[in-house]
Amino acid sequence: MTVTTTFSAFSASSAAAAAVSGGSDVELRAPLAVLGGDVRVPLVTGGEVAYAALDYAASAPALRRVWDDVAAYAPYYGSVHRGAGYLSQLSTDLFEQSRATVAGFLGCRPDDQVLFTRSTTDSLNLLAAALPAGTRVFVFETEHHAALLPWQRAEDAEVVCLAAPRTPEQAVAALDVALHGAPKGPKLVCVTGASNVTGELWPVRELAAAAHRHGARIVLDAAQLAPHHPVDVADLDVDWVAFSGHKLYAPFGSGVLAGRPDWLRDAEPYLAGGGATRTVTRGADGRVDVQWHEGVARHEAGSPNVIGAYAIASACRALTEAGFDRLVEREQALLARLTEGLAAIPQVRVLSLFGPDAPRVGVVSFVVDGWNSSHFAAALSAEHGIGVRDGLFCAHPLVRVLLDSAPGEPGECGAPDAEPGERSLNAVRVSFGAGTPAEHVDRFLAAARSLVADGAAWRYHTEEGRCVPVKG
Ligand SMILES: Cc1ncc(COP(=O)(O)O)c(C=O)c1O
Repeated sequence: MTVTTTFSAFSASSAAAAAVSGGSDVELRAPLAVLGGDVRVPLVTGGEVAYAALDYAASAPALRRVWDDVAAYAPYYGSVHRGAGYLSQLSTDLFEQSRATVAGFLGCRPDDQVLFTRSTTDSLNLLAAALPAGTRVFVFETEHHAALLPWQRAEDAEVVCLAAPRTPEQAVAALDVALHGAPKGPKLVCVTGASNVTGELWPVRELAAAAHRHGARIVLDAAQLAPHHPVDVADLDVDWVAFSGHKLYAPFGSGVLAGRPDWLRDAEPYLAGGGATRTVTRGADGRVDVQWHEGVARHEAGSPNVIGAYAIASACRALTEAGFDRLVEREQALLARLTEGLAAIPQVRVLSLFGPDAPRVGVVSFVVDGWNSSHFAAALSAEHGIGVRDGLFCAHPLVRVLLDSAPGEPGECGAPDAEPGERSLNAVRVSFGAGTPAEHVDRFLAAARSLVADGAAWRYHTEEGRCVPVKG
């Protein structure tokens, strides 16, 4: 039987993509349609407003196209790699086609593997579990915890944590020195493409060249890069790349680890279970003997999340067809509007490792004189209907560097128990993307100016780690 894994989603979504692309007003209108644009939220000050989602770096809204594609596929949903029925065959084909689409989106080399995981965190933990014995892992302290922490749990691996560099050149030089002095043996460098705190781009190509000069491998944490910028694995010459669907407008529980097959092929399967096995028998000694697969299936035990994989592939197609260069250009225009607006508020200090002119994606963190960041973020939400993030952004060492904190200064996840205006170790982060209308950035700037000039209408205090409004 020949299974034709096509259904109406493809033509319907192309039409939707055409409808949202084109038009000359790219400055103001979001280039891609996302869900939630018409959601209204209540204000503590009375009435309601359209929600302005400016927390894309945490989780971006779903692309309308992704949602439509998933909805069109849903009636055809079936098991993957298990099941003889037509819909199982169709779903298996769709899952494997999604792998190929992601490989194309990432510019993978012919022998690279694309594995579907749960998220970037899962992808990097999977790679950490696959390190050859005695691997030395090099990371900067500026990494997101998902890229900083998995390595030290790996058995028999040693982690070298490099101090935050203050220029991209310093980053490359520091890595060069560290790798040069490292003893023989397997080495891995893990680096982010774009910081989830400052939005700044890291010199990935140069870091990859430095890694390879010293015989090290490199994995790119593209959680914040992939939604904002084309990523080309072969061109950047990185060995692996990891990203999350929910930051790429595809919030259906999947992530990706793509790259070299060898370390993964030689490692124990990440999870033990069905799908990863070729044969399982009860041996004469009463033990269970297993032969594991060597390809991608080795690390994809359990029933695959076909909807998550298909959603990621749909988002990859949408971004590619919209023209990534056009998306980048428009995002940079919006970023300039945001940073110029913030620069005009003297009480605001934008956080940066590499300086104000460093290239960055649409992710900006800042602190405000006289404000606790959690109170500021809570007031933006409660009084203006604007969703941003506050805290240390799962990158505690980096935020400590950026805020010049004393080593013992307390700072932890969740809103601090602080008085209004009391300084604590946290910041506010605004982030946006291809679904953000310019009006959201303008509204945010107007709200920030008003809060700084006039103060909040309500008081804010912390309850169970969340900053909430209190009248009076
Ligand atoms: C740079 C970076 N890396 C890794 C992660 C972890 O992503 P996830 O929570 O989707 O696993 C994040 C999440 O914010 C991130 O910003």
